[in-house]
Amino acid sequence: MKWERKDILGIKELSVEEIQLILDTAESFLEVSTREIKKVPTLRGKTIINFFVEASTRTRTSFEIAGKRLSADTINISASTSSLVKGETLADTAKNLEAMNPDAIVIRHSCAGTPHMLARLVKQSIINAGDGAHEHPSQALLDMMTIRSRKGSLSGLNVSIVGDIAHSRVARSNIYGLNKMGARVTVAGPATMIPRDIRELGVKVSFKMDEALLDADVVMMLRIQTEREKQSIFPSLREYSTFYGLNKENIKKAKEDVLVMHPGPVNRGVEISPEIADGSHSVIMEQVTNGVAVRMALLYLLTGAAA
Ligand code: CP
Repeated sequence: MKWERKDILGIKELSVEEIQLILDTAESFLEVSTREIKKVPTLRGKTIINFFVEASTRTRTSFEIAGKRLSADTINISASTSSLVKGETLADTAKNLEAMNPDAIVIRHSCAGTPHMLARLVKQSIINAGDGAHEHPSQALLDMMTIRSRKGSLSGLNVSIVGDIAHSRVARSNIYGLNKMGARVTVAGPATMIPRDIRELGVKVSFKMDEALLDADVVMMLRIQTEREKQSIFPSLREYSTFYGLNKENIKKAKEDVLVMHPGPVNRGVEISPEIADGSHSVIMEQVTNGVAVRMALLYLLTGAAA
């Protein structure tokens, strides 16, 4: 298929064919990162602006590395060093970035819908690098790439997403993507962390960790998103860890070859024990490696190099 979409705003609007094309393209880029000279000329002359108005380690670094490995010029802007601190609006900032004629703008913002607003405002491609508790499409794509490469296919797999579903853009994007690709998704956590209408997205809900782990092919553990909570939604971290933490005892409920995933940052000893985070089932670092390849694929497809 030919890529025609201007922006990547969420997984919700992507077709199965588009997801497959992104994952296939990402796989073809994986080996570039293993070369001694980790660079190809594919995006020479293209300019990518990474505009992060919210903290990030993995997403921001991997978008920058992805651009550089494809020979694009990459520029990073953070909120604290931009004129947002002088009172300039985000819309005015975006129009000024547009006037410098980049080829794509990668945006992370704490407000849901910000990338969508920018996509309407500027002519360049916009990539959503996480908008509030709404979507984090490149994370879900790298998660699907990791599962597909380990399991061969996503279809028919039991995937359990455990933790703060209510505040997680990673959970939402993965639910959309995994459902489209034929996986069976269960979300689990305390009632205060599960949105009441989440079943409408086609997932099973469980409030018991053992039930969520039973026969799981993949377990995706999530951090409690304290930065998005208006009030504490669990009595104590110790209690949370006891009931919903993944450890060497309760992981036995899952399939023998279960994959343990986490988008990061990991809170060791809270949602996941250190021996599981670093253990033989964990593919957490593989997710990070695949993140560079997925972001290379997105930049390549969106900046027109694939046309
Ligand atoms: N997974 C993820 O979005 O990590 P960062 O917040 O470090 O980018």
